Amino acid sequence: MAFGYRAGRYCAEGVDLTAIAEAVGTPTYVYSRARLEERFTRFAAALSGLDAMVCFALKANSNLAVVKTLATAGAGGDVVSAGEIARARAAGIPADRIVFAGVGKTSDEMTAALDAGIYQFNCESEPEISALSALAAGRGQVAPVCVRVNPDVDAGTLSKITTGKKGNKFGIDIDLIPALFDRVRALPGVRLVGVSLHLGSLLNDLAPYRAAFQRMADLVRQLRAAGHAVERLDLGGGLGVPYRDEVLPTPEAYGALVRETVADLGCRLIFEPGRYLVADAGVMLARVVYVKEGSDRRFLILDAAMNDLMRPALYGAWHTVRPVLEPLQDAAEQPVDIVGPVCESTDTFAQGRLMPPVAAGELVVFETAGAYGRVMASSYNTRPEPAEVLVDGDRFAVVKPRPLIQDLFQNESIPSWLEGSDG
Ligand code: LLP
Repeated sequence: MAFGYRAGRYCAEGVDLTAIAEAVGTPTYVYSRARLEERFTRFAAALSGLDAMVCFALKANSNLAVVKTLATAGAGGDVVSAGEIARARAAGIPADRIVFAGVGKTSDEMTAALDAGIYQFNCESEPEISALSALAAGRGQVAPVCVRVNPDVDAGTLSKITTGKKGNKFGIDIDLIPALFDRVRALPGVRLVGVSLHLGSLLNDLAPYRAAFQRMADLVRQLRAAGHAVERLDLGGGLGVPYRDEVLPTPEAYGALVRETVADLGCRLIFEPGRYLVADAGVMLARVVYVKEGSDRRFLILDAAMNDLMRPALYGAWHTVRPVLEPLQDAAEQPVDIVGPVCESTDTFAQGRLMPPVAAGELVVFETAGAYGRVMASSYNTRPEPAEVLVDGDRFAVVKPRPLIQDLFQNESIPSWLEGSDG
């Protein structure tokens, strides 16, 4: 068990979270090495026998220790910025296992990727392909390109994280792809190696994948018939984990679908899972500062805020919250609003959430916080971002400390013409 109660305390593997709170303070993200490895192994095993490369989407959690754990287990990296290329390399992902996505790659970012010698650029527009070709050709290089296709399939996910429908900013409409391939094939600085897609995040059903994969298979055949060598097919990420009690597609069912729909194309397959690999390998630990009784509701006011875990404020997302001290079996649950200290009404993690009694000073844990948690944190309100800890059995290490308050503004400066001004 990676996370759960042991002897009355919530633990990460063999470590009581109370010990982490005492040593590191709160709010703090805590990750389980065993769970990270288990998730990667299960995902990779579901694709066994296929010519597959699994590239972890670093945007979900780019802490070096997390990326290193996955890289050691065999993951490549799916990156979206020069910063993520640098992180992936620093965590030991070889350049030839890095794919680079994103609608707005700048020439500096493309240069960084060409310098590193990455495996492939996933390009999302014709101007981007032309710019990359000019840049690469000028350096005497030929950049391997997968063209990101918008398959016009509704993934039925949260509207704010859907991506594969016509009208989204992502990819190129599927019906425009064959003509685009014909136009750009002669560009000197790119080699068209394949097509890619990413349907959306947190898909709760395999049906949209089936529709999209079938469309991609048809497209690959059509492109080949027109004389294009389509060697690679990048199927993106999107597999979810339950945040509550949802029943989601398993990697095994996903793998079976891949075999059924695209395996016979003989393409090298690339996968970009983010959330599936890390979401339930992490929790966020926080402390209750006050319990405030309103006239008609009770508030648990935490030392964690929307800037530490943005998903509830941004998407209305659910994270299960549990006290670190295991509640008594017969403890009566009562509705509470779980909120942070930031002066914004959206700084609310949950409203009317049924919780066992929790007192001021107690620790609580937000589950399933390993994906899109710490990476989306900010220092809004000049609040230091949360620390990060990696647990391995009964030991733990701080893998990113909480910044000091002075770290938050040490690079700011007051221009000389303002010094001495009395406003
Ligand atoms: N590949 C591409 C091109 C992507 O845009 C994404 C995620 C992934 C892979 C990884 O998707 P995953 O396997 O994690 O679903 N912040 C949101 C999620 C945004 C996802 C953006 N793209 C959240 O907290 O739910």
